[in-house]
Amino acid sequence: MSETSGSVAERFEQLYGAAPDGVWAAPGRVNLIGEHTDYNDGFVMPFALPHTAVAGVSRRDDGVLRLHSADVSGPVVELTVDALAPESDKRWTAYPAGVVWALREAGHAVTGADIHLASTVPAGAGLSSSAALEVVVALALNDLFGLALRGWQLARLCQRAENVYVGAPVGIMDQTASACCEPGHALFLDTRDLSQRQIPFDLAAEGMRLLVVDTRVKHSHSEGEYGKRRAGCEKGAALLGVDALRDVPFGELDAALKRLGDEEEVRRLVRHVVTEDARVERVVRLLESGDTRAIGPVLVEGHASLRDDFRVSCPELDLVVDTAVAAGALGARMTGGGFGGSAIVLAEEADVAAVTKAVEEAFAAAGFKTPRVFEAVPSAGARRVR
Ligand code: GLA
Repeated sequence: MSETSGSVAERFEQLYGAAPDGVWAAPGRVNLIGEHTDYNDGFVMPFALPHTAVAGVSRRDDGVLRLHSADVSGPVVELTVDALAPESDKRWTAYPAGVVWALREAGHAVTGADIHLASTVPAGAGLSSSAALEVVVALALNDLFGLALRGWQLARLCQRAENVYVGAPVGIMDQTASACCEPGHALFLDTRDLSQRQIPFDLAAEGMRLLVVDTRVKHSHSEGEYGKRRAGCEKGAALLGVDALRDVPFGELDAALKRLGDEEEVRRLVRHVVTEDARVERVVRLLESGDTRAIGPVLVEGHASLRDDFRVSCPELDLVVDTAVAAGALGARMTGGGFGGSAIVLAEEADVAAVTKAVEEAFAAAGFKTPRVFEAVPSAGARRVR
């Protein structure tokens, strides 16, 4: 499921006339639990997909940045590193160029590059295809320019590229997942200080599977709505006198909601974030005590909170969750930002076929697009592959 590094190197050579200095890969992700908590300094628990963005990259020292993608038709785009400016570019090139901009802005002497990208991470499916593009470019430049930055530092710079250069107000989860995940593990991440714990998550060994159901509803309106949720959470923190909603302890939720009085919209957002942080901690405890099956109901609870309180689900995502659970899945929830994209389903291995069939039939009966269903095995984070 990863582009072969050989085919990327070969295409690079056709485009730029010489073999690349190296080839790197960075994965997309799903999030097991902890949604819309990352911009509230809270907890998340993503794991890396086997699908990756792959980049062939050569260093340049003349200030020229050349970009090409196998996934977007069009010729090589040539830019000048000195002239990179935030929000000046509405094309896909804003992601890799934004990373170069963020590295330079942080004082790193990145003097140009030739880059060819090819990705197997489905775009617009809520699986962090953009973060994969950013992180693969950041890691390649880190190696080629000897910057010696750690995974979490690269993630911060990639988030800055996306926030400032691309202009999307995302949190830190996706970039950190792509940079720092390990095979066979989910990443328990505290988004306040980026401290991390790798939690063993080998479902196959326990006779279970995790399915990703891409509803193929592109989350095109997500940015405006995402920004509104984020602003609502910030308002909640300000009204409660805390730095971030992470600072409202679960045990004090009722009192906090009371203090918010008739701010109904903010109350719902606060309730989601505070209960969701608690759900991440519950899932960590359950996994660490070997009670993996018991996380199923926690996932379903998280989905209900995203649907009813945070209001970022959609009919297709709700149908996946309801149908999968009715067909015997252990749990299911939307994953990522919402408004379309993908859901995850946790099921016994023996129930996978029946659950998949039930979801496909329900989608056909509702007149929805045929969903894309695949199994997700926790895979490796960003690395050099050649
Ligand atoms: C998107 C953002 C992340 C995070 C999720 C919701 O994936 O990029 O930072 O906020 O939505 O959990």
